[in-house]
Parts: sequence; C-alpha cells; structure tokens
Amino acid sequence: MTDQELIKMAHGAARQAYAPYSEFHVGAALLGKSGKVFVGCNVENASYGLTICAERVAVGMAVACAERDFEAIAISVKGGGSPCGACRQVLSEFAPDLRVLMSDENGKLVREMSLGALLPENFGPKSF
Ligand code: THU
Repeated sequence: MTDQELIKMAHGAARQAYAPYSEFHVGAALLGKSGKVFVGCNVENASYGLTICAERVAVGMAVACAERDFEAIAISVKGGGSPCGACRQVLSEFAPDLRVLMSDENGKLVREMSLGALLPENFGPKSF
C-alpha cells in the first residue's frame, strides 16, 4: 500500500461523509500493520455534539475487526487540515508514533507529520 493509494482511499471515504450541518466532508484511511486498511468518514448528528469524526470512525472500524497496530493514517479534508485534538488522543491510544498524511480535497498530499509531533507529551496507556 503506497501513501498515494492510502490517500485515495481516504478521499473515497470522504464521499460517504454524512455532514448535512457543516457540509465539511472528511475521510480517513487507517493502515494496519497487517496491511489491511480501515476507512472512516465523519458522521454528524442533529444534536451536533454527538458528531463523530472520520478518524475515530476508522479507529472503531479497525478495532472491531481485531486490528490494533497501525502504520499510518491518511486524512482527506478541504485544504488538507490536521486532525482535531480528540482524534489525536484516540489515535495515540494505539499508535503514538503513527504517520499522519494530510491531503486536500483533490487527493494531494499537503503535509506529513508524526502523531508524536501533533500530540507531544500524550497521556496514554503507559501513563499510569
Ligand atoms: N471533523 C472530522 O471528521 N475530523 C477532524 O479531525 C476534525 C473535524 C468533522 C467533524 C464535523 O463533522 C466536521 O468535520 C466539522 O467540524
């Protein structure tokens, strides 16, 4: 699985976003160490606060399929923005050194960072 293929899967997942309130479509493709990919999109809710981000949907998909070790995540979002704080925390539970590929709405890689750089001094399973 190349980075560009992973980005393409995130881009495809963004098309499934249920985002009638924000109209901000986000897709994620999480690459497991097994080589399997788990996708997610944001799923909004009329109560707003119950909205789930694409990245956390992808984590849930993976864990439900018995995958807990990850190599990289590609995120597809307008302008190639970075994951929210809640998603950084949830990703860091399983993969504090995850490669995070941020791509835009055209499938172009905007930048790559490690989750450790996005969430330094994380609180995780080894913190207690
Ligand atoms: N969103 C994500 O899916 N991932 C993020 O990391 C940031 C925000 C979604 C949530 C909401 O549906 C929309 O983007 C606007 O915040």
